[in-house]
Amino acid sequence: MNLPLNPYLNNLPVYQPGRPIEEVARELGLSADSVIKVASNENPFGPSPLALAAMQKALAGVNLYPDGSAFYLKQKLAAKLGVKPANLVLGNGSNEIIEFLGHALLSGAGILPAQPDQAGWKPAPLDVVVSQYCFAVYPIVTKLFGANLITVPAKNYGHDLPAMLRAITPQTRLVFVTNPNNPTGTFAPREELVRFVDEVPDDVLLVMDEAYIEYLDDPADLVPLVRSGARKNLILMRTFSKIYGLAGLRIGYGVANAELVSALEKIRQPFNTNLLAQTAALAALDDTDHVRKTRANNSAGLELFARAFRDLNLEYVPSHANFILVRVGPGQKVFEAMQRQGVIVRPMGGYQLPEWVRISIGTPQENERCLGALKSALGKK
Ligand SMILES: Cc1ncc(COP(=O)(O)O)c(C=O)c1O
Repeated sequence: MNLPLNPYLNNLPVYQPGRPIEEVARELGLSADSVIKVASNENPFGPSPLALAAMQKALAGVNLYPDGSAFYLKQKLAAKLGVKPANLVLGNGSNEIIEFLGHALLSGAGILPAQPDQAGWKPAPLDVVVSQYCFAVYPIVTKLFGANLITVPAKNYGHDLPAMLRAITPQTRLVFVTNPNNPTGTFAPREELVRFVDEVPDDVLLVMDEAYIEYLDDPADLVPLVRSGARKNLILMRTFSKIYGLAGLRIGYGVANAELVSALEKIRQPFNTNLLAQTAALAALDDTDHVRKTRANNSAGLELFARAFRDLNLEYVPSHANFILVRVGPGQKVFEAMQRQGVIVRPMGGYQLPEWVRISIGTPQENERCLGALKSALGKK
Protein backbone atom coordinates (compact mmCIF):
# COMPACT_ATOMS: atom_id res chain seq x y z
CA MET A 1 0.00 0.00 0.00
CA ASN A 2 1.38 3.39 -0.96
CA LEU A 3 -0.79 5.54 1.23
CA PRO A 4 1.22 7.93 3.36
CA LEU A 5 -0.48 6.95 6.61
CA ASN A 6 0.18 8.75 9.87
CA PRO A 7 3.56 7.22 10.84
CA TYR A 8 2.52 7.10 14.47
CA LEU A 9 0.07 4.35 13.57
CA ASN A 10 3.01 1.97 13.11
CA ASN A 11 3.71 1.58 16.80
CA LEU A 12 0.22 2.06 18.06
CA PRO A 13 -0.98 -0.49 20.59
CA VAL A 14 -4.43 -1.77 19.70
CA TYR A 15 -7.09 -1.84 22.41
CA GLN A 16 -8.16 -5.43 23.02
CA PRO A 17 -11.85 -5.55 23.83
CA GLY A 18 -13.42 -8.68 25.30
CA ARG A 19 -14.91 -11.13 22.78
CA PRO A 20 -18.67 -11.26 22.23
CA ILE A 21 -20.48 -13.80 24.41
CA GLU A 22 -22.09 -15.45 21.37
CA GLU A 23 -18.71 -16.06 19.77
CA VAL A 24 -17.21 -17.61 22.91
CA ALA A 25 -20.33 -19.75 23.38
CA ARG A 26 -20.20 -20.97 19.76
CA GLU A 27 -16.53 -21.92 20.07
CA LEU A 28 -17.09 -23.79 23.33
CA GLY A 29 -20.27 -25.48 22.16
CA LEU A 30 -22.24 -23.80 24.97
CA SER A 31 -25.50 -21.89 24.72
CA ALA A 32 -25.03 -18.10 24.86
CA ASP A 33 -27.42 -17.98 27.84
CA SER A 34 -25.12 -20.16 29.87
CA VAL A 35 -22.06 -17.95 29.38
CA ILE A 36 -21.42 -15.04 31.73
CA LYS A 37 -19.17 -12.12 30.88
CA VAL A 38 -17.55 -10.40 33.83
CA ALA A 39 -14.76 -8.84 31.81
CA SER A 40 -15.71 -5.27 30.92
CA ASN A 41 -16.99 -3.70 34.15
CA GLU A 42 -20.56 -3.47 32.93
CA ASN A 43 -23.67 -3.24 35.11
CA PRO A 44 -24.83 -6.82 35.85
CA PHE A 45 -28.43 -5.63 36.37
CA GLY A 46 -28.64 -4.27 32.83
CA PRO A 47 -29.78 -0.78 31.90
CA SER A 48 -32.00 1.30 34.13
CA PRO A 49 -35.64 0.27 33.53
CA LEU A 50 -36.54 3.95 33.25
CA ALA A 51 -33.96 4.33 30.48
CA LEU A 52 -35.35 1.29 28.66
CA ALA A 53 -38.89 2.66 28.77
CA ALA A 54 -37.77 6.09 27.57
CA MET A 55 -35.85 4.56 24.67
CA GLN A 56 -38.83 2.50 23.63
CA LYS A 57 -40.88 5.68 23.37
CA ALA A 58 -38.11 7.46 21.45
CA LEU A 59 -37.51 4.64 18.93
CA ALA A 60 -40.01 5.93 16.40
CA GLY A 61 -38.03 9.18 16.17
CA VAL A 62 -34.75 7.76 14.97
CA ASN A 63 -35.36 9.00 11.43
CA LEU A 64 -34.39 12.41 12.80
CA TYR A 65 -30.90 13.50 13.76
CA PRO A 66 -30.36 13.78 17.48
CA ASP A 67 -30.12 17.14 19.19
CA GLY A 68 -26.53 18.07 18.35
CA SER A 69 -26.27 20.27 21.41
CA ALA A 70 -27.88 17.69 23.75
CA PHE A 71 -29.82 20.59 25.22
CA TYR A 72 -31.97 18.65 27.71
CA LEU A 73 -29.25 16.31 28.87
CA LYS A 74 -26.85 19.18 29.44
CA GLN A 75 -29.54 21.09 31.35
CA LYS A 76 -30.19 18.13 33.57
CA LEU A 77 -26.54 17.30 34.19
CA ALA A 78 -25.78 20.95 34.85
CA ALA A 79 -28.55 21.14 37.46
CA LYS A 80 -27.40 17.91 39.08
CA LEU A 81 -23.77 19.03 39.26
CA GLY A 82 -24.37 22.69 39.99
CA VAL A 83 -22.48 23.88 36.91
CA LYS A 84 -23.55 25.59 33.70
CA PRO A 85 -24.36 23.69 30.50
CA ALA A 86 -21.36 25.54 29.05
CA ASN A 87 -19.17 23.52 31.44
CA LEU A 88 -20.24 20.23 29.83
CA VAL A 89 -19.09 18.37 26.75
CA LEU A 90 -20.66 15.09 25.71
CA GLY A 91 -18.74 12.23 24.17
CA ASN A 92 -19.54 9.04 22.34
CA GLY A 93 -18.48 7.33 25.53
CA SER A 94 -15.97 9.14 27.70
CA ASN A 95 -13.39 7.46 25.48
CA GLU A 96 -14.20 9.98 22.81
CA ILE A 97 -13.41 12.84 25.16
CA ILE A 98 -9.91 11.41 25.60
CA GLU A 99 -9.53 11.72 21.85
CA PHE A 100 -10.86 15.31 21.88
CA LEU A 101 -8.10 16.11 24.38
CA GLY A 102 -5.52 14.66 22.02
CA HIS A 103 -6.77 16.92 19.22
CA ALA A 104 -6.91 19.93 21.50
CA LEU A 105 -3.58 19.59 23.25
CA LEU A 106 -1.34 17.14 21.41
CA SER A 107 -2.17 17.63 17.76
CA GLY A 108 0.95 18.28 15.74
CA ALA A 109 3.22 17.00 18.52
CA GLY A 110 6.59 16.15 17.06
CA ILE A 111 5.52 16.70 13.46
CA LEU A 112 5.55 20.48 13.37
CA PRO A 113 7.79 21.72 10.57
CA ALA A 114 11.34 22.59 11.52
CA GLN A 115 11.84 26.32 11.98
CA PRO A 116 13.49 27.52 8.75
CA ASP A 117 15.99 29.78 10.51
CA GLN A 118 17.43 26.98 12.62
CA ALA A 119 18.84 24.18 10.50
CA GLY A 120 18.08 20.77 11.96
CA TRP A 121 15.78 22.19 14.63
CA LYS A 122 13.23 19.66 15.74
CA PRO A 123 10.41 20.42 18.13
CA ALA A 124 10.58 18.44 21.34
CA PRO A 125 7.69 15.98 21.40
CA LEU A 126 4.99 16.81 23.89
CA ASP A 127 4.63 14.70 27.01
CA VAL A 128 1.70 12.96 28.62
CA VAL A 129 2.05 11.73 32.20
CA VAL A 130 0.22 8.59 33.29
CA SER A 131 0.54 6.03 36.05
CA GLN A 132 1.73 2.47 35.54
CA TYR A 133 -1.38 0.26 35.19
CA CYS A 134 -3.40 3.08 33.66
CA PHE A 135 -6.46 2.68 31.45
CA ALA A 136 -5.27 1.41 28.05
CA VAL A 137 -6.78 4.21 25.99
CA TYR A 138 -4.46 6.94 27.37
CA PRO A 139 -1.30 5.43 25.83
CA ILE A 140 -3.16 4.74 22.59
CA VAL A 141 -4.29 8.35 22.18
CA THR A 142 -0.89 9.67 23.29
CA LYS A 143 0.90 7.62 20.65
CA LEU A 144 -1.68 8.35 17.96
CA PHE A 145 -0.83 12.04 18.30
CA GLY A 146 2.91 11.38 18.32
CA ALA A 147 3.35 12.51 21.91
CA ASN A 148 5.68 10.95 24.42
CA LEU A 149 4.27 8.84 27.24
CA ILE A 150 5.81 9.26 30.68
CA THR A 151 4.72 6.32 32.82
CA VAL A 152 5.20 6.81 36.54
CA PRO A 153 5.69 3.59 38.55
CA ALA A 154 2.63 2.73 40.61
CA LYS A 155 2.68 2.62 44.40
CA ASN A 156 0.81 -0.38 45.82
CA TYR A 157 -0.86 -0.72 42.39
CA GLY A 158 -2.28 2.82 42.65
CA HIS A 159 -1.16 6.24 41.49
CA ASP A 160 1.93 7.71 43.16
CA LEU A 161 0.64 11.28 42.91
CA PRO A 162 3.72 13.09 44.30
CA ALA A 163 5.90 11.15 41.82
CA MET A 164 3.49 12.03 39.00
CA LEU A 165 3.84 15.68 39.92
CA ARG A 166 7.61 15.41 39.82
CA ALA A 167 7.40 13.70 36.41
CA ILE A 168 5.75 16.73 34.77
CA THR A 169 8.15 18.38 32.31
CA PRO A 170 7.97 21.73 30.51
CA GLN A 171 6.66 19.75 27.50
CA THR A 172 3.85 18.08 29.44
CA ARG A 173 0.37 18.90 28.19
CA LEU A 174 -1.81 16.26 29.84
CA VAL A 175 -1.76 14.29 33.08
CA PHE A 176 -4.25 11.44 33.48
CA VAL A 177 -5.45 10.40 36.92
CA THR A 178 -8.12 7.73 37.23
CA ASN A 179 -10.03 7.59 40.47
CA PRO A 180 -10.88 4.81 41.17
CA ASN A 181 -8.38 3.35 38.77
CA ASN A 182 -9.05 0.75 36.10
CA PRO A 183 -7.71 -2.00 36.10
CA THR A 184 -6.49 -1.94 39.70
CA GLY A 185 -9.54 -0.53 41.55
CA THR A 186 -7.30 1.64 43.75
CA PHE A 187 -8.34 5.12 44.78
CA ALA A 188 -6.42 8.20 45.79
CA PRO A 189 -6.96 9.49 49.34
CA ARG A 190 -8.84 12.79 49.36
CA GLU A 191 -6.08 14.95 50.84
CA GLU A 192 -3.45 13.64 48.48
CA LEU A 193 -5.76 14.21 45.56
CA VAL A 194 -6.68 17.76 46.53
CA ARG A 195 -3.01 18.64 47.01
CA PHE A 196 -2.20 17.17 43.61
CA VAL A 197 -4.98 19.08 41.84
CA ASP A 198 -3.67 22.23 43.45
CA GLU A 199 -0.09 21.70 42.41
CA VAL A 200 -0.41 20.68 38.75
CA PRO A 201 0.98 23.64 36.77
CA ASP A 202 -1.59 25.88 35.11
CA ASP A 203 -0.41 25.06 31.60
CA VAL A 204 -0.91 21.31 32.07
CA LEU A 205 -4.40 19.85 31.77
CA LEU A 206 -5.26 17.46 34.57
CA VAL A 207 -7.68 14.84 33.30
CA MET A 208 -9.53 13.27 36.22
CA ASP A 209 -11.16 10.16 34.86
CA GLU A 210 -14.07 9.44 37.19
CA ALA A 211 -15.67 6.59 35.24
CA TYR A 212 -16.20 4.65 38.49
CA ILE A 213 -16.77 7.54 40.92
CA GLU A 214 -20.37 6.54 41.64
CA TYR A 215 -19.09 3.38 43.33
CA LEU A 216 -17.21 5.36 45.99
CA ASP A 217 -19.01 5.96 49.29
CA ASP A 218 -17.52 9.37 49.94
CA PRO A 219 -15.73 10.64 46.85
CA ALA A 220 -13.68 13.83 46.85
CA ASP A 221 -15.94 16.22 44.94
CA LEU A 222 -13.85 18.22 42.48
CA VAL A 223 -16.82 19.79 40.70
CA PRO A 224 -16.65 22.94 42.91
CA LEU A 225 -13.18 23.63 41.49
CA VAL A 226 -14.69 23.79 38.02
CA ARG A 227 -17.82 25.64 39.18
CA SER A 228 -15.86 28.39 40.90
CA GLY A 229 -13.35 28.69 38.07
CA ALA A 230 -10.58 27.94 40.60
CA ARG A 231 -9.01 25.30 38.32
CA LYS A 232 -9.15 26.06 34.63
CA ASN A 233 -6.72 23.24 33.86
CA LEU A 234 -9.00 20.46 35.14
CA ILE A 235 -11.45 18.24 33.29
CA LEU A 236 -13.54 15.60 35.04
CA MET A 237 -14.62 12.72 32.83
CA ARG A 238 -17.67 10.65 33.67
CA THR A 239 -19.68 8.00 31.90
CA PHE A 240 -23.10 6.40 31.64
CA SER A 241 -21.43 3.07 30.79
CA LYS A 242 -20.83 1.82 34.29
CA ILE A 243 -23.28 2.38 37.15
CA TYR A 244 -26.03 3.54 34.77
CA GLY A 245 -25.68 0.40 32.67
CA LEU A 246 -25.64 2.09 29.26
CA ALA A 247 -22.25 0.96 27.90
CA GLY A 248 -23.72 -0.20 24.58
CA LEU A 249 -25.14 3.24 23.85
CA ARG A 250 -21.79 5.05 24.15
CA ILE A 251 -22.32 8.21 26.11
CA GLY A 252 -20.12 10.02 28.60
CA TYR A 253 -19.27 13.60 29.49
CA GLY A 254 -16.58 15.99 30.56
CA VAL A 255 -16.95 18.79 33.13
CA ALA A 256 -14.53 21.66 32.70
CA ASN A 257 -14.00 25.37 32.41
CA ALA A 258 -16.26 26.89 29.70
CA GLU A 259 -13.30 28.08 27.64
CA LEU A 260 -11.82 24.59 27.40
CA VAL A 261 -15.28 23.14 26.70
CA SER A 262 -15.80 25.55 23.81
CA ALA A 263 -12.48 24.42 22.31
CA LEU A 264 -13.54 20.77 22.66
CA GLU A 265 -16.92 21.58 21.11
CA LYS A 266 -15.09 22.63 17.93
CA ILE A 267 -13.53 19.19 17.72
CA ARG A 268 -16.71 17.24 18.51
CA GLN A 269 -18.72 15.92 15.57
CA PRO A 270 -22.16 17.58 15.66
CA PHE A 271 -24.11 14.35 16.23
CA ASN A 272 -21.60 12.32 18.21
CA THR A 273 -24.11 11.18 20.83
CA ASN A 274 -27.15 9.50 19.35
CA LEU A 275 -30.83 10.03 20.05
CA LEU A 276 -31.33 6.85 22.08
CA ALA A 277 -28.20 7.46 24.12
CA GLN A 278 -29.30 10.99 25.05
CA THR A 279 -32.82 9.78 25.85
CA ALA A 280 -31.59 6.89 27.99
CA ALA A 281 -29.04 9.01 29.83
CA LEU A 282 -31.70 11.59 30.71
CA ALA A 283 -33.99 8.91 32.14
CA ALA A 284 -31.18 7.03 33.90
CA LEU A 285 -30.26 10.15 35.87
CA ASP A 286 -33.69 9.91 37.51
CA ASP A 287 -33.36 6.23 38.32
CA THR A 288 -31.94 6.51 41.81
CA ASP A 289 -33.32 3.04 42.67
CA HIS A 290 -31.30 1.38 39.95
CA VAL A 291 -28.16 3.21 41.02
CA ARG A 292 -28.72 2.38 44.70
CA LYS A 293 -29.38 -1.28 43.96
CA THR A 294 -26.32 -1.49 41.72
CA ARG A 295 -24.08 0.12 44.31
CA ALA A 296 -25.32 -2.14 47.13
CA ASN A 297 -24.84 -5.25 45.01
CA ASN A 298 -21.37 -4.05 44.12
CA SER A 299 -20.21 -3.56 47.71
CA ALA A 300 -21.56 -6.97 48.68
CA GLY A 301 -19.84 -8.53 45.64
CA LEU A 302 -16.52 -6.86 46.42
CA GLU A 303 -16.68 -8.18 49.97
CA LEU A 304 -17.58 -11.65 48.79
CA PHE A 305 -14.62 -11.81 46.41
CA ALA A 306 -12.18 -10.33 48.92
CA ARG A 307 -13.22 -12.90 51.52
CA ALA A 308 -13.00 -15.74 49.03
CA PHE A 309 -9.54 -14.64 47.84
CA ARG A 310 -8.31 -14.51 51.43
CA ASP A 311 -9.67 -18.01 52.04
CA LEU A 312 -7.99 -19.22 48.86
CA ASN A 313 -4.75 -17.49 49.80
CA LEU A 314 -4.80 -15.40 46.63
CA GLU A 315 -3.30 -11.93 46.56
CA TYR A 316 -5.79 -9.26 45.46
CA VAL A 317 -5.92 -5.49 45.27
CA PRO A 318 -8.63 -4.06 47.53
CA SER A 319 -11.01 -2.42 45.10
CA HIS A 320 -13.19 0.69 45.18
CA ALA A 321 -14.74 0.12 41.76
CA ASN A 322 -16.98 -2.53 40.17
CA PHE A 323 -14.23 -5.06 39.51
CA ILE A 324 -11.39 -6.68 41.40
CA LEU A 325 -7.89 -7.68 40.42
CA VAL A 326 -6.63 -11.03 41.69
CA ARG A 327 -3.29 -12.78 41.32
CA VAL A 328 -3.87 -16.27 40.00
CA GLY A 329 -0.45 -17.28 38.64
CA PRO A 330 -0.65 -17.96 34.90
CA GLY A 331 -3.36 -15.37 34.15
CA GLN A 332 -3.93 -16.31 30.52
CA LYS A 333 -4.27 -20.03 31.34
CA VAL A 334 -6.66 -19.37 34.22
CA PHE A 335 -8.68 -17.07 31.96
CA GLU A 336 -8.90 -19.85 29.36
CA ALA A 337 -9.82 -22.50 31.94
CA MET A 338 -12.58 -20.26 33.30
CA GLN A 339 -13.77 -19.48 29.81
CA ARG A 340 -14.12 -23.21 29.08
CA GLN A 341 -16.58 -23.24 31.97
CA GLY A 342 -18.50 -20.37 30.40
CA VAL A 343 -17.13 -17.59 32.60
CA ILE A 344 -15.32 -14.77 30.77
CA VAL A 345 -12.96 -12.68 32.91
CA ARG A 346 -10.23 -10.31 31.72
CA PRO A 347 -6.64 -11.56 31.57
CA MET A 348 -4.21 -8.77 32.38
CA GLY A 349 -1.16 -9.58 30.24
CA GLY A 350 -1.82 -6.47 28.15
CA TYR A 351 -1.47 -4.39 31.30
CA GLN A 352 1.88 -5.97 32.23
CA LEU A 353 0.12 -7.98 34.93
CA PRO A 354 0.37 -11.48 33.40
CA GLU A 355 -0.24 -13.22 36.72
CA TRP A 356 -3.50 -11.44 37.34
CA VAL A 357 -7.07 -11.51 36.08
CA ARG A 358 -9.67 -8.78 36.54
CA ILE A 359 -13.17 -9.84 37.50
CA SER A 360 -16.15 -7.50 37.18
CA ILE A 361 -18.68 -7.75 39.99
CA GLY A 362 -21.77 -9.61 38.78
CA THR A 363 -25.11 -10.53 40.31
CA PRO A 364 -24.82 -12.73 43.44
CA GLN A 365 -25.41 -15.81 41.26
CA GLU A 366 -22.78 -14.74 38.72
CA ASN A 367 -20.27 -14.07 41.49
CA GLU A 368 -20.77 -17.56 42.94
CA ARG A 369 -20.46 -19.12 39.53
CA CYS A 370 -17.33 -17.12 38.81
CA LEU A 371 -15.73 -18.17 42.09
CA GLY A 372 -16.60 -21.80 41.37
CA ALA A 373 -14.98 -21.56 37.94
CA LEU A 374 -11.91 -19.86 39.42
CA LYS A 375 -11.48 -22.53 42.10
CA SER A 376 -11.81 -25.25 39.56
CA ALA A 377 -9.36 -23.50 37.19
CA LEU A 378 -6.87 -23.35 40.06
CA GLY A 379 -7.51 -26.99 41.02
CA LYS A 380 -8.83 -25.86 44.40
CA LYS A 381 -12.15 -27.64 44.18
C1 LIG B 1 -11.03 4.40 33.46
C2 LIG B 1 -11.97 4.39 32.32
N1 LIG B 1 -12.19 5.51 31.64
C3 LIG B 1 -13.02 5.55 30.60
C4 LIG B 1 -13.68 4.42 30.21
C5 LIG B 1 -14.52 4.50 28.99
O1 LIG B 1 -15.82 4.58 29.24
P1 LIG B 1 -16.86 4.88 28.09
O2 LIG B 1 -17.65 3.64 27.95
O3 LIG B 1 -17.65 6.04 28.62
O4 LIG B 1 -16.12 5.24 26.85
C6 LIG B 1 -13.51 3.22 30.86
C7 LIG B 1 -14.18 2.01 30.40
O5 LIG B 1 -13.88 0.91 30.73
C8 LIG B 1 -12.61 3.20 31.95
O6 LIG B 1 -12.37 2.08 32.62
